[in-house]
Amino acid sequence: DKGNHRHFMEKEIYEQPEVISHALGHYVDFTENRVSAAASAIDFARIPSLAISACGTAYLAGLIGKYWFERYARLPVEIDVASEFRYRDIPLSPDAAALFISQSGETADTLASLRYCKDLGLTIGAVVNASESTIARSSDAVFPILAGPEIGVASTKAFTCQLAVLAALAVGAGRARGTISIEEERVLVRHLAEMPRIMASVLNAIQPKMESLARELSKCRDVLYLGRGTSFPLAMEGALKLKEISYIHAEGYAAGELKHGPIALIDENMPVIVIAPHDRFFEKTISNMQEVAARGGRIIFITDERGAAASKLETMSTIVLPNVDELIAPMIFSLPIQLLAYHTAVFMGTDVDQPRNLAKSVTVE
Ligand code: F6R
Repeated sequence: DKGNHRHFMEKEIYEQPEVISHALGHYVDFTENRVSAAASAIDFARIPSLAISACGTAYLAGLIGKYWFERYARLPVEIDVASEFRYRDIPLSPDAAALFISQSGETADTLASLRYCKDLGLTIGAVVNASESTIARSSDAVFPILAGPEIGVASTKAFTCQLAVLAALAVGAGRARGTISIEEERVLVRHLAEMPRIMASVLNAIQPKMESLARELSKCRDVLYLGRGTSFPLAMEGALKLKEISYIHAEGYAAGELKHGPIALIDENMPVIVIAPHDRFFEKTISNMQEVAARGGRIIFITDERGAAASKLETMSTIVLPNVDELIAPMIFSLPIQLLAYHTAVFMGTDVDQPRNLAKSVTVE
């Protein structure tokens, strides 16, 4: 049932504040502002490293998770797409743990990576939506993302719920490993707790702008997304979402890689979507944005209030989100990216919930 939405994808985008709140409730104790026991089903204090493997959007959630596990828990993370991971002969310690992220819990390559790690003796954790799935049943520890059924082929609420769970796990791992204090844990958990309310207000505020911008995007053949830090995987996710449902060619790049190749593509016909909250990397990303502007590139700037105030560059459009902590920025910044892809596809008249050639669950290699 789509309720009063045109597509399941739209319904699932708007469900995010509710499902994220549900997912967080499982991993976080809001009275104490601490991560709850559900997040410590893997003993993060005792492992030397963590491996993460997944496909598509779930892989991009894992890439953001890598930044968090490294930053908050000082835990080295090896990550790859499952179709590479399973064949790479990665030197993995049996003392390590491996996390497999999958909405469906049935993705063939992800399951094969899991079995490979299991044979090597690693502790196996599954971050899954379908908790009765093969991946869940094959794991030592299951971390349900509690997003509810996701019908739209393009993943939206499963992505942000995967992120919410990975964020809680990374903060919990940081506590277990003593790399963050109880006070720091409390501050981070309070930021997580604010997420549903902020998401609801952002969804409400940006909708009209996303629709008018989508009209512009629907005329383009190519779109480039740029970001640094956790905004880099988000740039790749933005590009993936757009190409999946609108069939417009899009690429996500690390902003710092611009001058190593993609800058050759810049002209007035290829919009550049810059994802840049006012974080540690902001100034660097702005200088990349200047390089785009200097070559006549049209910029869609997705930033926060501080970022908007700090940049004087002229843009095709600037989307201003509230200032939020670095930990929750990827979830908040996912919203304009999802809505932009969604409305562009609606303008193009594609089958948004069932894009051509794609399946919701990829059970063959
Ligand atoms: C993107 C998308 C795919 C899936 C990928 C993994 O919108 O839907 O990239 O994320 O096929 O699927 P799961 O998470 O079921 O393993």
